Amino acid sequence: MNDTSASSEAILAPRHHPATIALHWVTLLLILLGLTAVFTRELFDEKPARAFLLAVHRNSGLLVLIMVAIRLLLRWPLGVGAVNNYLQTRLRIASALGHAALYLLLLALPLVGWLLSNAHGQAVQLFGVLPLPTLTERDRDFADQLGLIHVDLAWALLALAASHALAALWHHYRRGDAVLISMLPRKGRRSVATPL
Ligand code: HEM
Ligand code: HEM
Repeated sequence: MNDTSASSEAILAPRHHPATIALHWVTLLLILLGLTAVFTRELFDEKPARAFLLAVHRNSGLLVLIMVAIRLLLRWPLGVGAVNNYLQTRLRIASALGHAALYLLLLALPLVGWLLSNAHGQAVQLFGVLPLPTLTERDRDFADQLGLIHVDLAWALLALAASHALAALWHHYRRGDAVLISMLPRKGRRSVATPL
């Protein structure tokens, strides 16, 4: 791509709504925070530090659940699906399937984590003040199974998110389209979703 087309793309590129962009990147930061907390926990033997890091993990995971619920509710009003609808049908189908799988995992993971905590006999509270309903009785065997499922889902999310990020980079560097640009926070007015 030459400089002229790159700069005209920067001006004409369709962009997601700022709220969509904010929700997307805040969700990513929360996932990274939750993972950092749960893995850092392995480095500590002291109970208070482990309890604090697990609380950070649970709260960031619950916030992911809230963010995803908001994203799904606002998807249509914010016109998320219309932004990159100039792409060929096969690319649109592939990205819709990938995004649907990401949403499913983003919903399932925190819910399984919540169930897992309850099955361990621990009530879940948002920020330590808002008690959430208990979804299941204390049950050690069930907790063990849920623990395995939770970790498998986490690896599936990481693998899918990595492919998703690579796909975004492929759009930008190989296809030279505006898909990645559409999700990047930038100053200035939001342009309309016009085919490039
Ligand atoms: C996007 C959200 C989430 C991700 C990516 C995630 C990921 C993970 C991972 C990778 C582990 C395993 C860590 C290890 O092997 O030591 C883990 C453990 C755990 N997670 Fe989550 N989790 C999420 C949300 C939640 C939520 C919302 C809760 C509870 C409300 C939760 C509760 C737990 C518990 C209780 C453990 C077991 C900790 C232990 O005793 O070792 N998770 N999570
Ligand atoms: C844990 C990491 C991530 C998750 C869970 C995630 C999730 C999602 C989801 C669910 C969508 C679909 C929005 C919709 O159509 O409703 C999306 C869109 C998008 N994501 Fe991510 N994402 C992650 C990381 C990244 C990274 C690292 C990049 C860039 C390198 C990226 C770039 C994009 C782009 C460009 C779009 C817009 C696609 C389009 O408009 O067709 N994402 N992301």
